[in-house]
Amino acid sequence: MTRALFHIAFAAALLAPAVVAGDAVAQATPQGPPPPLVKFTIVDNTIPEPLTDVPGDPDRGKRVVTNASNSTCLICHRMPIPEQPDQGQIAPPLDGIGSRYTAAQLRLRLVNPKLLTPETMMPAYYRVDGLTRVQAQYQGRTIYSAQDIEDAIVYLLTLK
Ligand code: HEC
Repeated sequence: MTRALFHIAFAAALLAPAVVAGDAVAQATPQGPPPPLVKFTIVDNTIPEPLTDVPGDPDRGKRVVTNASNSTCLICHRMPIPEQPDQGQIAPPLDGIGSRYTAAQLRLRLVNPKLLTPETMMPAYYRVDGLTRVQAQYQGRTIYSAQDIEDAIVYLLTLK
């Protein structure tokens, strides 16, 4: 690689996380290898430690969980978001969920609810194993990024 090309590639690598952390929550067709899964530790049905060092952003979290192109919670759950007319009724409403659960409890529930209820229909938003019929470009990818999980948790905690 020439020196100039190297600089361009390096700049792109630096910019990529900024794009993810910004407004872009709609999933474009993923390019390149998936980011490595963040390691986490489960303690008493919770994941106590955040998956990222960047504190969750509740406004972005609201956009993450209502993103219709990315397994929105509203397929199954009702949420106190009147501007979203189509809401699910097949799972418990998430109204007041921030009073009933801690961040650590919500983190495990979002990462992989099958660890709590093996037969649940709720998707595991941060898991790559055990999935079937995954299109090639999504293989090895989680539904949510680690930051999406953290932003979603902080938003859910505002639902008191
Ligand atoms: C395909 C349906 C489906 C989707 C999509 C879904 N869930 Fe669920 N969720 C469920 C079901 C069913 C339950 C009931 C318990 C169980 O089966 O695990 C549940 C339970 C929960 C609970 C515990 C509720 C309580 O009152 O105890 C939380 C919190 C939750 N979901 C959050 C979310 C969030 C946040 C999203 C989106 C990021 C989401 N769910 C997406 C089906 C879904």
